[in-house]
Amino acid sequence: MLDLKHALWELEKVVDAAQLENFFQIYLWKKGFINEEFKVMLTLPAEEKKDRGAKLSDIKTKLTEAYEAKQQSFKMGQINQQLEKDLVDISLDTSSENWSYSLLAEVRREVEEIFKSLWFVMEYGTEMVTKFENFESVNIPLTHPATEMHDTIYLNEKDPSGENFVLRTHTSSMQNYMIKKYGVPLKALVPWRAYRFENMDATHDTMFYQVEGMYIGKNISIAHFKSLMETMLNAVLKKKVETRMRPGYFPFVEPGFEIDARYEYLNPKTGKKEMSKRLEILPGGMIHPEVLKAAGVDPAEWRSGFAFGLGMSRLAAIKYGIKDIRYFTNGDLRFAKSFA
Ligand code: PHE
Repeated sequence: MLDLKHALWELEKVVDAAQLENFFQIYLWKKGFINEEFKVMLTLPAEEKKDRGAKLSDIKTKLTEAYEAKQQSFKMGQINQQLEKDLVDISLDTSSENWSYSLLAEVRREVEEIFKSLWFVMEYGTEMVTKFENFESVNIPLTHPATEMHDTIYLNEKDPSGENFVLRTHTSSMQNYMIKKYGVPLKALVPWRAYRFENMDATHDTMFYQVEGMYIGKNISIAHFKSLMETMLNAVLKKKVETRMRPGYFPFVEPGFEIDARYEYLNPKTGKKEMSKRLEILPGGMIHPEVLKAAGVDPAEWRSGFAFGLGMSRLAAIKYGIKDIRYFTNGDLRFAKSFA
């Protein structure tokens, strides 16, 4: 009969994955030694069969265990090797040409700095949110088309009320939280990621950066809103910007606007200063009373305030004259550095 000690000794000598596989083929595979021995056993007289069967089973178990332990140790060895290779050498000189900020990050920081200098509180918030945060808290009933699968990404994880979490489809998911946390009057900024189920093309991506802004007070008018947006755009685009407001619809603002902008530039053909075409820059509007109510604020007392949702890639694309927003996230250093 097969000698367990000998087999274990052979296993001991195994030094790599190929040899281990070989060992498996010889002993444990369905055409290996052990199964062959089981076949032989079946031909034995009944009283021998029992004894032999028990011994073989015992050998098979012990050998399988030893084999698996060896397999595991090889895996750990591989992982450790990989970890050693992956160690970050912190003595490397990172001030060299090996990295660059993404243009999106640069522009986001500029926007953050502008609003911080105006004493806005700032939070990034969570990207995984409840349906309440993303929709109902900003006056979007769950029957609204925007809540359907085609542009909302649902997660398997459930919130405490048993509903699936979603990836926030806009940073407006933070409006309710910011009002509740900081109270009114409020100047708040939420610049970070949002997600929509989109087919990627030159102007759409499933992940995008948005900057949510809110300004709530007692005598805040559309004029304040317009002037703040112009101040911000002048500062980011470093150009004299002129804005125009058109009506736009969002359930969480009333009235709602689309803000277009144009700016003065030097036309290389004529050599003269001209106004650019009007470009759609960002949506916004006066905060809807239902949004205030949902956050426990009395809209009769705090009647005025505005909110806006600025798309980062759009702003960066305008600032740097980029036609395809996929350049921002493809990680190509040549692209990012050419604007340094
Ligand atoms: N949340 C809106 C969007 O993502 C933008 C927006 C924000 C509009 C605030 C009005 C006010 O499309």
